[in-house]
Amino acid sequence: MADLQSRVNDLHDLLNQYSYEYYVQDNPSVPDSEYDKLLHELIDIETTHPEYRTEDSPTVRVGGSAQSTFEKVQHDTPMLSLGNAFNEEDLRKFDQRIRDNIGDVEYMCELKIDGLAVSLKYENGRFVQGLTRGDGTTGEDITENLKTIHAIPLKINEPRTFEVRGEAYMPRKSFFNLNEAKAENDEQPFANPRNAAAGSLRQLDSKLAAKRKLSVFLYSVNDFTQFNADTQSEALDELDQLGFKTNQARQRVQTIDEVLAYIEKWTEQREDLPYDIDGIVIKVNALEQQEALGFTQKSPRWAIAYKFPAEEVITELLDIELSIGRTGVVTPTAILEPVKVAGTTVSRASLHNEDLIHEKDIRIGDSVVIKKAGDIIPEVIKSVLDRRPENAEQYHMPTHCPSCDHELVRIEGEVALRCINPKCQAQLVEGLIHFVSRQAMNIDGLGTKIIQQLYENELIKDVADIFYLTKEDLEPLDRMGEKKIDNLLKAIELAKSNSLEQLLFGLGIRHLGVKASQVIAEKYSTMDKLFDVTEEDLVTIHDIGHKLAQSVVTYLENEDIRALIEKLKVKNVNMTYKGVKTSELEGHPEFKDKTIVLTGKLYQMTRNEASKWLALQGAKVTNSVTKSTDLVIAGEDAGSKLTKAEKFGTVVWSEEDFVQKQKEIEG
Ligand code: IVH
Repeated sequence: MADLQSRVNDLHDLLNQYSYEYYVQDNPSVPDSEYDKLLHELIDIETTHPEYRTEDSPTVRVGGSAQSTFEKVQHDTPMLSLGNAFNEEDLRKFDQRIRDNIGDVEYMCELKIDGLAVSLKYENGRFVQGLTRGDGTTGEDITENLKTIHAIPLKINEPRTFEVRGEAYMPRKSFFNLNEAKAENDEQPFANPRNAAAGSLRQLDSKLAAKRKLSVFLYSVNDFTQFNADTQSEALDELDQLGFKTNQARQRVQTIDEVLAYIEKWTEQREDLPYDIDGIVIKVNALEQQEALGFTQKSPRWAIAYKFPAEEVITELLDIELSIGRTGVVTPTAILEPVKVAGTTVSRASLHNEDLIHEKDIRIGDSVVIKKAGDIIPEVIKSVLDRRPENAEQYHMPTHCPSCDHELVRIEGEVALRCINPKCQAQLVEGLIHFVSRQAMNIDGLGTKIIQQLYENELIKDVADIFYLTKEDLEPLDRMGEKKIDNLLKAIELAKSNSLEQLLFGLGIRHLGVKASQVIAEKYSTMDKLFDVTEEDLVTIHDIGHKLAQSVVTYLENEDIRALIEKLKVKNVNMTYKGVKTSELEGHPEFKDKTIVLTGKLYQMTRNEASKWLALQGAKVTNSVTKSTDLVIAGEDAGSKLTKAEKFGTVVWSEEDFVQKQKEIEG
């Protein structure tokens, strides 16, 4: 078996070398097929001889078994963030402060990669643990996902122990490919590469993370004493030597004017990079000077992040298109000459409402300035008046619905125009899309495009028709193979057994959200009982006001709606509440009948999970802090709710306190 062991060693070395050449040096020496061939050879050996499988085998790059959660791990030293500079003045002040403190200085300028901070631990030359930043003190163990990133070495040539930090990111190309695939499957695309990278690293199944093609740039070492370096620049060079990927656009400079020149250069060239950057980081280069400057509570005094302003570009407003939402609200959308902003091509932007169009005096044919708010959602900022064509006319919303021609109304106190025709086609289609959406009936595979086709072909006119669909109905639709039809019919069948609150929410009753649907379904348990409910009954429920109560009662009284429910019943669509009855729960005395508010960012669970758990303990989770609130659970960056709690003297727990209590209760 010595032969096999040496073959395994060779395969490790070759595969690691090829990954390094391809992903770190960007200079592959063999075709992809060669890598794949060797990888499969190694996978075969490990399958037949599991004793040759190791934690740092290149086969871990394809991902392993799925985890149920990510473990929380405390950072050895906190992962801090950087102070921000937004303009030249901020930078000059930073420079002055440094020079006042320590005299002459050399800076290291680096690109600020727009991804997620990660910390990588190596022990005896092997990658053993990778953490997210988390709240800076405690991160999540995402080692298995990080191992799928080829640019992260699984082992290095020297048996050293240290921690390095950097930014994991999704290259633009991976991002576009991923979103293209998502669009094909009718899935919601990611807004930007950073969100896509974050989503990928949060996958509990590392096989999925492996498909996302992430990369990394390392930008700091945790403890200089482990390195042969007296400066940031030497530390990065040493990381290069060890086989890590660092960003090569870094530059040492001696003056703030050179810093500004570096910023100017990359402001111009950032679009040509194959990854997103959101600024420039400026660091004092010498370790000794860094130590002399030290840290504030949150960030080092020896570094600052210059943030690029949201990019603004000028393009032409070709037209204003109107879209009609589920509730009849008519929203004007700007149709733009396609233009690239902050990495993606923009051709549409919401104009919100007519008032706003007039306020900004935006006219069709204008050259308009657009930017991405938070670099995500495109927004029209203003028209360029001196470029206005002579014949450009002020825009007026139509008086009638562009879909059904019913007169539009402006409801008092609202800026929006609405089509109030309950039979308006556009609204009906939006209503159908809502009915099948995740939080409602959650029918997988029934995306917007299919719904539109089904509606246009008159196969579905109301939500009940969905349950009457047959194989023959679906066959003529675009891109509908046998397998897809089968899956779709199965998903529809499955939805028949959904609990009442999903159906209630799906019906799209005005003002009725997910939470109120849940409370009402739980309280009345069946649709038939709900038919007899009065407005007075409903308002006795905590959190349900008159407007909502009235809307529910009026809706359920409607003869057409009664007929619709009957039509659903014929197809055995479930009309009862299947969830837990909170009132019958024994609960836990610590929480039972207590009114609790969750606020701020939680790290160990989502707010929704926390809320569900509390409900199971018999607590009432509400949105706003009042005098009768018993407890506030405040995560990171909690804002006004926490302030209010402090004012009322309400008991406040941190996430840690809460988790501790959960552990005590669950044993
Ligand atoms: S140095 C003490 N260098 O920007 C923090 N950060 O708040 C030291 N980032 O989330 C960070 N590129 O993940 C540094 N070249 C770079 C960076 C960089 C991106 C991120 C970092 C952190 C944020 C700064």
